Amino acid sequence: MTQDELFKVLVAHCKEYGFIFPSSEIYDGLAAVYDYGQMGVELKNNIKKYWWGAMTRLHENIVGIDSCIFMHPKIWEASGHVGAFNDPLIDNKDSKKRYRADVLIEDYIAKLEEKNAKEVEKGRKKFGDAFDEEKFLQTNPNCVRNSEKIAQVRKRMADALNANDLKELRQIIIDCEIACPISGTKNWTEVRQFNLMFSTQLGSVGEEANTIYLRPETAQGIFVNYLNVQKTGRMKIPFGIAQIGKAFRNEIVARQFIFRMREFEQMEMQFFIKPGTELDWFAQWKKNRMAWHVNLGMGAENYRFHDHDKLAHYANAATDIEFNFPFGFKELEGIHSRTDFDLGNHQKFSGKKIQYFDPESNESYTPYVVETSIGVDRMVLAVLSHSFKEETLENGETRVVLSIPAPLAPVKAAVLPLVKKDGLPELAQKIMDMLKFDFNCQYDEKDSIGKRYRRQDAIGTPFCITVDHDSLEDGCVTVRYRDTMTQDRIKIEDLPAMIHREVDLGVLLRKL
Ligand code: GAP
Repeated sequence: MTQDELFKVLVAHCKEYGFIFPSSEIYDGLAAVYDYGQMGVELKNNIKKYWWGAMTRLHENIVGIDSCIFMHPKIWEASGHVGAFNDPLIDNKDSKKRYRADVLIEDYIAKLEEKNAKEVEKGRKKFGDAFDEEKFLQTNPNCVRNSEKIAQVRKRMADALNANDLKELRQIIIDCEIACPISGTKNWTEVRQFNLMFSTQLGSVGEEANTIYLRPETAQGIFVNYLNVQKTGRMKIPFGIAQIGKAFRNEIVARQFIFRMREFEQMEMQFFIKPGTELDWFAQWKKNRMAWHVNLGMGAENYRFHDHDKLAHYANAATDIEFNFPFGFKELEGIHSRTDFDLGNHQKFSGKKIQYFDPESNESYTPYVVETSIGVDRMVLAVLSHSFKEETLENGETRVVLSIPAPLAPVKAAVLPLVKKDGLPELAQKIMDMLKFDFNCQYDEKDSIGKRYRRQDAIGTPFCITVDHDSLEDGCVTVRYRDTMTQDRIKIEDLPAMIHREVDLGVLLRKL
């Protein structure tokens, strides 16, 4: 199965098993908006708990807040979003399809990178153990040509974006002979800027002055509460404020399922620091955030840093943590050194003094900020796409399994009476009553035990607990493990401790 086909199967699986539904589906859906079902919401909540715990519990100097989606419209002028939160748009005149010009160019670069990866694979097969990838990339003529082209196009694009040179962006598309994926033609319009913020009206009068925006990032809610938190929490620099909440962007290219949505959720942390220390903190937060990801056990090789060529309007250093999604390495999290851009501008626009008095150096300054910002939905997609497997078993049967890291799994254990009689359901219910206060569990007595195992595999339940006739005599149950399908006989009273060891978020946090 190609990665493309696998992705389609995953999307269908998410719907079939109650993880993610297209929004407003009975009205034919709403583009790039999705709802989380009964399994999806559990997975999403567990991801949020893992992040929140890692930020606010493991750092005594990081506290959380929950600010509103609606904010004073001046905030978005101060932050630069009214003037500069734009995407460069281009239309194909034949297909009438609209694209982000930078995404078209990035896709072109990704194709060249793919070509190089294929050459490397061929080389590896040809030269075996003696293969030196770095040397191969530097000497193979095709790879050298592709690498030069990649570097040249990257530089041209970064320069054009930094200079807001829309004509040059179009010219790159023409020079690279990029064709519309739908019509196959190169019949392009000019490139135009398009602001991504949704606006609405506050109150009943539709006047310009009443226009407010749905926040495109949660970060500004943190900046405008900086003084409140610093004073009431008696926080000393360096300290951080964390927040989880919805953000909204009128994305032009809203594809790839929950990767790019118009309504999504962010987990952001602003770390307030002394000016001049930002690059050290930037490096520390890069390390810290990568460790948080790798700690989940989804393979260190599936993450990489990508330093930005084009810096956002507020940053003096920026990197992405990219994840190996089914459609290639793409941004999962952003880490930005935002300088004093935001606090400085809020000071200017609000007329309120936003300064920190440093008792050690006896000076006042506007703090600098290093931000970590991750999309909850992208994290859900990373976990689901990495976990989804179609396996052929030794007996030739197939099973679909989601090997979700156990602390994130929606359901931790399923309690299954072997048959619906002889007192087994009653004992199974007692086990449910024992476990339900600590773990999200499911009781299931319908269909054969094999079918019930498959249903639990498909939603990623780490443990199936089967109650059989022997259980009535010996007080033990059979525990079947999701990933290995091996089974153990375990005393009923030992179940909570055994499950706890594998699924508790505290255990995961302790490994950080
Ligand atoms: N406050 C900084 C900020 O918002 P960003 O790189 O624009 O930075 C941060 O966004 C993260 O939010 C991204 O790394 C991504 O995970 C997530 N994100 C951004 N736009 C998104 C969208 N349209 N759909 C889903 N997630 C999105």
